[in-house]
Amino acid sequence: MAHLRAAQIHMWTVGDYPVIATHLLPISRIAVKAVDPQSGESVLDIAVGTGNAAILAAKAGAKVTGIDITPAQIDRAREHCKAEGVRVDLQVGDAEHLDIPDESMDVVLSVMGLIFAPDFIAATRELARVCRPGGRVAITAWAANSWSATWREKVAHLSAPAAGPTPDEWGDPVVAIDRLGSAGLSAKVEQRNFAWRFPSPQAALETFLTAAGPFVSFMETLESHDKAEEGQRLLLEAIEETNVANDGSCTLPAPYLLMTATR
Ligand SMILES: C[S@@+](CC[C@H](N)C(=O)[O-])C[C@H]1O[C@@H](n2cnc3c(N)ncnc32)[C@H](O)[C@@H]1O
Repeated sequence: MAHLRAAQIHMWTVGDYPVIATHLLPISRIAVKAVDPQSGESVLDIAVGTGNAAILAAKAGAKVTGIDITPAQIDRAREHCKAEGVRVDLQVGDAEHLDIPDESMDVVLSVMGLIFAPDFIAATRELARVCRPGGRVAITAWAANSWSATWREKVAHLSAPAAGPTPDEWGDPVVAIDRLGSAGLSAKVEQRNFAWRFPSPQAALETFLTAAGPFVSFMETLESHDKAEEGQRLLLEAIEETNVANDGSCTLPAPYLLMTATR
């Protein structure tokens, strides 16, 4: 698993994640609203990224801890918290082995984060372990019919298949319910709508290629096999095929699953 961990850290270090986090903020708002953190409650944000959900919970008066496997993300989260004037206890850590006492959190959430832990059994077990009985849990995952599925299908022939479990598996509600159920959490799963919005398809392409770690690192791999040009062409094709805007701008529907549970 060490090579998968290193690949994750690389993927979320390259690019310019704060740009992506700005797009994804509405999803954190929904997840935080679902768990409704109260003043003085303890909240853990697993895979905190640059702090979107953690900052919202801290602004609600909660005592927030954020962990992320990528040191560069924790550095960005520190800057973000400072700019927003909130205190969050930020730590480099792995969702699969949380350095957090049993049953110590009133709320545990993870926005498009825990789904990247390859050992989903360990990650869901840890999520349940640190949440107190009666505590609230919310996690999100991209739904199986998100626009990026079109892109992945298009480029599947260009690279070797993923070495381990992929975050996409979480996009199937049956799988998600089963995984959380194995950790003793009886989850409710709802599909919610999100859309990536850009001034044009070309702007979407540029943003994904420069800011989004998964695309940046995938293109690095293609470059080393002289296939980057084809990868970029296919990415633009996927963007144009899935774009639902008809005014020259670009709107890519990206439904996601919101899973909630009470421990
Ligand atoms: C798509 S970003 C989401 C970040 C943030 N939650 C947000 O909503 O913007 C995925 C995050 O998961 C983190 N991550 C991936 N695997 C992890 C693991 N095993 N443990 C903790 N964090 C992990 C990455 O470093 C990255 O910051």
